[in-house]
Amino acid sequence: MSKSRKSVIIMTHTLPRDWIVSLESECQIFAGLPDATRFEEKLVSYLPSAEGLFTLLTIPIFEDILEQAPFLRVISNMAVGVDNIDTAACTRRGIPVGYTPGVLTDSTADLTFALLLSMARNIPQSSQDARLGRWKTWLPAGWLGIELNGSILGVLGMGKIGKAVAIRAQAFGMKIIYTDPSEQEITGAQRVSLEDLFRSSDILTIHAPLTPDTRGLVNAKTLSTMKPTSILINASRGPLVDTNALSDALRTNKIAAAALDVTDPEPLPPSHPLYALPNILIVPHIGSATQHTRKMMAQLACENLLAGLHGERLPHCINPEVYKQ
Ligand code: DGY
Repeated sequence: MSKSRKSVIIMTHTLPRDWIVSLESECQIFAGLPDATRFEEKLVSYLPSAEGLFTLLTIPIFEDILEQAPFLRVISNMAVGVDNIDTAACTRRGIPVGYTPGVLTDSTADLTFALLLSMARNIPQSSQDARLGRWKTWLPAGWLGIELNGSILGVLGMGKIGKAVAIRAQAFGMKIIYTDPSEQEITGAQRVSLEDLFRSSDILTIHAPLTPDTRGLVNAKTLSTMKPTSILINASRGPLVDTNALSDALRTNKIAAAALDVTDPEPLPPSHPLYALPNILIVPHIGSATQHTRKMMAQLACENLLAGLHGERLPHCINPEVYKQ
C-alpha cells in the first residue's frame, strides 16, 4: 500500500499480537482490555476519527456507536454470529460488516458432541459422585445413560455447524432429523416440522442464528412437547432458549437434561438457580475455543477489515446488499 498515513481502527479488545500482525503496517490501533465486557469509555473518544472497527460478539454495536463514527468504512466481527451488530443500520450507512464463517465449524461441532456425550452418559453427575465418595460399588442400575446408536438426533438449524454435528452423529449410528429455513435436502437426514423435531428428538441440538424468528424458540410450550427422557444442547446463542422455562423443565423432569455452551444472560451469574440443578452442564461459550480456530477467526477478521479499509469487497460480508446501493 502506498499511502503513508495509517488508518485509525478501534478494536474492542486486545488480542494476541501474532493474531493481528497483518494490521500493524497499515493501522493505528486503539484497543480495549482483553476481557472488556462493554465498549470502553476510552475508545469512544476515537470514534469520530475511526475508519475501521474490529469487534467481538460480546459488544453491542448499534446506532449509539455508529452515529459517533462518521468516517467508519468497515466493521469486522470476529465471530460467525453477528446478532451483536445492527447490520441493517450499517447497510443504511453504507458500512459493510465482516464475519468469520467456516473456520469454527469443526471446533464448534466437536464441542457440541462433547456436551452431547457428556449428558447422554451422565459424565458430570457421575464424576461428581465419584469425587464426593458416593461411588460405593459397581451399581447395576446406577448412572444409566442413553445409547447413541439408534437414538434420534434433532438438529435445529442445518447450516455448516449443524451439518458437521450430523456427520459426527451418523458415525455414532444416530438417526438425524432436522429443521432449516433453506430448501436444501441433506443426505441421510430427514427434514421434519418444528413440532415433530421437538416431539421426536431423543437429543435436540440447536445451531440456528439468533434472529427475531428464533428468539425464544425453546420455551415452556415447546419444551412441554419434548420426551421426558430427552436432552437439550444449545451451542448457538443463549436467547434461543427461554432460561426460566428451561429451568422449570429440568426441575420438574419434563426433559431429562441440558447442556449449554451459551446462556441468556451471558455470562450466567454464579448465583443463577440453573447451576444448582443436577441435570445441567454449563460451559462458558467455548465452542470455537481451540488455538487453531481462534487464530483463523482473527485472520479472517483481519482480512475483512483490511479489505474494507482498502475500499474492496469484504471476503466474508454479512450484508452484501450494501454494495448494491
Ligand atoms: C461465533 O463466532 O459466533 C461463535 O459463537 C464463537 O464461538
